[in-house]
Amino acid sequence: MNHFEDRPGPTGALELWCEGVRLADIADAVGTPVYVYSTATLERHFTVFRDALQSAMPGRDLLIAFAVKANPNLAVIRTLSDLGAGADTVSEGEIRRALAAGVPPQRIVFSGVGKTDAELAYAMDIGVAEINVEAEAELDRLAKIAAAKGVRPAIAFRVNPDVGAGGHAKISTGKAESKFGVSFSEARRLYAKASAHPALRPIGVACHIGSQISDLAPMEAAFIKMRALVEQLRADGLSVERLDLGGGLGVPYHDTPAPPTPAQYAAMVARVVDGLDIALAFEPGRVIVANAGVLIARTVHVHHRAEGRRFLVVDAAMNDLLRPTLYEAYHAIRPVRVGNGAPEEAYDVVGPICETGDTFARDRMMPPVGEGELVAFLSAGAYGASMGSEYNARPLAPEVLVRGDRYAVVRRRPTYEEMLSREQAPDWS
Ligand code: LLP
Repeated sequence: MNHFEDRPGPTGALELWCEGVRLADIADAVGTPVYVYSTATLERHFTVFRDALQSAMPGRDLLIAFAVKANPNLAVIRTLSDLGAGADTVSEGEIRRALAAGVPPQRIVFSGVGKTDAELAYAMDIGVAEINVEAEAELDRLAKIAAAKGVRPAIAFRVNPDVGAGGHAKISTGKAESKFGVSFSEARRLYAKASAHPALRPIGVACHIGSQISDLAPMEAAFIKMRALVEQLRADGLSVERLDLGGGLGVPYHDTPAPPTPAQYAAMVARVVDGLDIALAFEPGRVIVANAGVLIARTVHVHHRAEGRRFLVVDAAMNDLLRPTLYEAYHAIRPVRVGNGAPEEAYDVVGPICETGDTFARDRMMPPVGEGELVAFLSAGAYGASMGSEYNARPLAPEVLVRGDRYAVVRRRPTYEEMLSREQAPDWS
């Protein structure tokens, strides 16, 4: 459930609102394209996820670390942090964002395939909850840095359980051939090696097998393997305090059957860890933010091709919302104003960028949309603004957070002067 709903506008006609604010008012005041997020939806999604886990496993120590990469806006992280969320981060920049948004270091998880020495040193200085080590080479670098600093960071091993899942090959991460994590067969040796090192404090194991997962079976298979690993490590006499089960739960994008609910996911986790005394961590991203955000664009014009194709050219482009181009991802697209009952028409919804890939949808049925009208791309709160770029020298779309009947610009659109001021042509003379 989210808080984007059709309600009557000033003329009485139905149109899309976010909580108590007309999206059309935001578009008029802030300009388009613009991302709009709903505080009530963010809070609801986090609360539903947390409550599902808590009620399936009462009394268990749970860290729910929001995957910052899904939506790194400070206001979004702050909203979740105020509810007790931690942060799953993959770069120094994301750690800095989490801290700036008020997430305490004890709730920050630092993951990533290629953390640099500088990033590892920074994470140790901050004292993050857990550095997820993904390779033996990384373990060795980490040990050296920690020893030189005289600190003993808490680490977990991200283990590749050789179970793949996810909505697209580009976001499946759990198979043995993917670049993520240490292999299952070497986890014991590496955990023992780390435990013997005076500058390291191994506290757990972690896995994350993919994103936009719509079937609990592969997750369950991976989690069962992880439980077995915890038991094996403990039988080896090693201390394992926390099991980090990653993120990955899918969301409804309106084109596929609904994915499992947080309650079904929590019940599955509870089943897998039943009787195992261990703290759990989770790294949800999409399930918290995807349906808490929309991208609003304005139609530049409708281009009717002689042979019959109808292109809806909008002022948002692949640089604003890359998912359709990169993953053939489906986003529901609709006029902000509700149709007056006129029959739907097929549109190719495209942006202005000079590539065919800058196409959001082909033959999408929609109520008739005219020049200058607003359209909304739904479920755009996750991996939307966060994957934006300035391709074609287009300014990054601003972001707006709604709360009740108020809204705030939480990232403003840069001016062209600001964009140009970061660069200079060298004076070679
Ligand atoms: N933990 C780790 C280690 C991850 O790599 C990811 C996502 C997450 C947690 C959060 O996963 P989520 O709950 O959001 O599924 N850009 C793609 C998605 C990439 C996901 C990358 N890793 C998209 O737009 O679909």
